[in-house]
Amino acid sequence: MLRVRGRELLLGLAVAAVAMVGAWLMGWWIPRSGFRLFIPEELARYRGGPGDPGLYLALLGRVYDVSSGRRHYEPGAHYSGFAGRDASRAFVTGDYSEAGLVDDVSDLSFSDMLTLKNWLSFYEKNYEFVGKVIGRFYGEDGLPTPALTLVEAMIVKGLEASKQEMKEKQKFPPCNTEWSSARGSRFWCSRKSGGVSRDWIGVPRKLFKPGAKEPQCVCVRTTGPPSDQLPDNPTHRNRGDLDHPNVGEYTGCPPLAITCSFPP
Ligand code: HEM
Repeated sequence: MLRVRGRELLLGLAVAAVAMVGAWLMGWWIPRSGFRLFIPEELARYRGGPGDPGLYLALLGRVYDVSSGRRHYEPGAHYSGFAGRDASRAFVTGDYSEAGLVDDVSDLSFSDMLTLKNWLSFYEKNYEFVGKVIGRFYGEDGLPTPALTLVEAMIVKGLEASKQEMKEKQKFPPCNTEWSSARGSRFWCSRKSGGVSRDWIGVPRKLFKPGAKEPQCVCVRTTGPPSDQLPDNPTHRNRGDLDHPNVGEYTGCPPLAITCSFPP
């Protein structure tokens, strides 16, 4: 009796295992956390063509149902290359060739990673998340791979760098610039130059950024304490950021002129 029960149990287990493997191969494997895991071959069926089960795309391993944006992604549409696969790289490069529609983002820059993050926010907001694709970014257990962890770390660093850049831009807003073959070039400052609204105008200066080949024209505040100094420090010379070590005057332009023309 016991032996028969044992055999039934084994048979039951075997059937369950075959069903699970089958379901996994067909992409129906739903881990306990509730999302669906796809293998790339299964995702490839979701291209929105006749007889396809749907219209999905993946970004950084996350799968979205984009059928409500059918006009962008269906066969023949401009962005059809994104359908049925993870083509994360092309979201940055705009290379929609077969070689470009891939998920390898390992050589992309911090700012490219921010582009990917923005696209991810776009899909989270506009489309339904349906699962994850097993491969570069998620393992068979649905957990992030080291490649995804690296991308996430680069996004965090990229965000920090762009915050720092914004702060720098407030301190040294770019100049307005103009060039014509007849009159040469002109740099000038205004209350909104560089897209930075402020209550001071400043004067054009060369900003030497560490690592940059060429100096950049920025507007430098001429009164008050230096930006890097506490505002209540009484020892400042009321010259704003004019004495900042990374800024230099334009030869031939009066030190406090708002506009510099070359030739003068
Ligand atoms: C890296 C470059 C680019 C990528 C990855 C990209 C990607 C996309 C994607 C995925 C969509 C569909 C968004 C949705 O689901 O609603 C879209 C829409 C659109 N893209 Fe691009 N795009 C790029 C560059 C451009 C450029 C340069 C232009 C214009 C010169 C452009 C014009 C448009 C327009 C007009 C739509 C909306 C079309 C509509 O609503 O019917 N895209 N883009």
